[in-house]
Amino acid sequence: MPQKPINVLFVCLGNICRSPAAENIFRHQVKLAKLDDFIHIDSAGTHDYHPGKAPDSRMSNTLSKRDISVTGAARQFKKEDYSNFDLILTMDAENYAGVTSLASTTQHTEKVFMFTNFCEHPDHQVTEVPDPYYGEDDGFELVADMLEDGCRQLLDHTRKKLGQ
Ligand code: 4NP
Repeated sequence: MPQKPINVLFVCLGNICRSPAAENIFRHQVKLAKLDDFIHIDSAGTHDYHPGKAPDSRMSNTLSKRDISVTGAARQFKKEDYSNFDLILTMDAENYAGVTSLASTTQHTEKVFMFTNFCEHPDHQVTEVPDPYYGEDDGFELVADMLEDGCRQLLDHTRKKLGQ
């Protein structure tokens, strides 16, 4: 029987730094694992600050140095995303509140988790992925480290859900 794909959505505030980075890092890992037919990935922002804009060049440059290519166009999280995604991962508590404020059923809220639930690295024992937008370049490196770490755990989690 054909396997039903798992649809994963990453959410931050502006959808130009953290969530598109998570989307592209996870896509890179999923492709290496040859699971791209089974795991579909997207990202969104709780606010519509930069509609259609490509990911922030500081984030793209950080990921390019890690041989991860970055694509994407910013969009706002919408209520319909609850129908289209199985797993919705928010970067910080404010994003979590923004996403769950649009939930209308417990099935909706049960799909939403903090991304940091998947972060295990001892250096990143934090409860949120910090917003790097107004900070220095090292903030983007830290975000990329956290996202690479969490995405590895997320890949194991989704692999189990797929029975792979
Ligand atoms: P992101 O970062 O939520 O990780 O995409 C931000 C991007 C833009 C803004 C804030 C955070 N902004 O205020 O425009």
